[in-house]
Amino acid sequence: MDKFVIRGGTPLRGAIRISGAKNSALPCMAAAILTEDEVTLENIPDVRDIETERKLLVSMGAEVELGYGRAHHRTRIRCGSLDPVAKYEIVKTMRASSLVLGPLIARTGTARVAMPGGCAIGGRPIDLHIKALQAMGAEIAQEHGYLEARAKRLHGARIVFDKITVTGTEDLLMAAALADGETCMENCACEPEVLDVAKLLSAMGARIEGAGTATIRVQGVDRLHGAKHRIHPDRIEAGTFLVAAAITGGDLTLTGCNPHHLSSVIEKLREVGVQCELTADTIRVRASGPLRGANISTEEYPGFPTDMQAQFMALATQAEGTSLVTENIFENRFMHVQELVRMGANIRVEGRTAAVVGKSPLSAAAVMASDLRASASLVLAALVAEGETIIDRVYHIDRGYERIEEKLRGVGAKIRRIGNVFRETEEPTAEVTA
Ligand code: UD1
Repeated sequence: MDKFVIRGGTPLRGAIRISGAKNSALPCMAAAILTEDEVTLENIPDVRDIETERKLLVSMGAEVELGYGRAHHRTRIRCGSLDPVAKYEIVKTMRASSLVLGPLIARTGTARVAMPGGCAIGGRPIDLHIKALQAMGAEIAQEHGYLEARAKRLHGARIVFDKITVTGTEDLLMAAALADGETCMENCACEPEVLDVAKLLSAMGARIEGAGTATIRVQGVDRLHGAKHRIHPDRIEAGTFLVAAAITGGDLTLTGCNPHHLSSVIEKLREVGVQCELTADTIRVRASGPLRGANISTEEYPGFPTDMQAQFMALATQAEGTSLVTENIFENRFMHVQELVRMGANIRVEGRTAAVVGKSPLSAAAVMASDLRASASLVLAALVAEGETIIDRVYHIDRGYERIEEKLRGVGAKIRRIGNVFRETEEPTAEVTA
């Protein structure tokens, strides 16, 4: 398996272009199920989860052309006739595969979707997706590890999510687009990725109001048509590079990003003592003086994202004073703590809160990536650690970051990839990341 070898101590300087958002691209690819016409998506990130989604759609009979290369990063998807089965072999490697459930029932009236397995960052059930689809008339049973769903045609319903769920909101939005009548969804996720999917669906002919707010109304239509859509920039990739500049005392300009989506992260960085200058689509981040500790508490958007918690914790190890990091979205999302402690961090976890006492000099160690964002925090810590850190299991990071080592090397980081180029047989058997 591939490893990263990182020698710390170089302030990062220069510019990094931000890729398209993985968490928008995944539901947008699933939305292509809703029509037999061609859906074209641009600004698709070249990451492993996208390849997994491609495999999933192809396994159901879709034609998926996925091209990176110069100026492409584009996929063309045509879901002519579909075999509505999402196989366990694919679902187990990516929980977001459950995003096909709603679109499959809505389009074909039936779906057989494997239940996602265990996950390193908490239980992560999909009960809210199931309950809402049942309210729209789907009959859903669980048999032999699969959800067997059936509905002649979904009908509109009033859905109040018990808990805010991002992919749950997206799944139901897609289902409601082709349902009979009006669906009113309350307590919806307001994440920018939900809005991105709604934009694609609207371009396909869906009638949606309120996406990006807590209440979304959808007037179902009989048919959706093909469309072309550009995926918005990845706010978590951008946030990770903001922290990379801050932690190394560097000066980075991120281009092709959306600073509005990062308000809570930028606010925290300023509190820590980092300068951030924004334009409509760039962020320049400069860190020259000492960093001050700050508390974060993860919340749904527009609060501080759980997907930035691990990276912020790495930064807090280099700030003066105590930072309290509280994780409210997922149980069990502190797996990076043990590895950061092995590198010299002073972190104590009590329940949902980690107290990080800084500033601690970090020293290189052999560490293990445990999930996508935890791996990012180890890369960040390694960038300031004394000596050469070796990070094992970087397949986690490859799931959601496009060529992170090349982007970091381009701004001065001493990072290289070693080991075999990833082989299929080495794919982890269970999905263990966000
Ligand atoms: C999405 C993101 C992930 C991010 C997370 C929270 C994608 C592909 N992934 O994950 O990167 O960390 O949002 O911002 O977009 N829950 C239930 N029942 C359900 C669904 C969720 O109890 O049916 C709970 C979860 O266990 C969790 C909380 O709701 O505690 C939020 O989860 P959710 O927003 O659904 O996360 P994902 O959509 O899986």
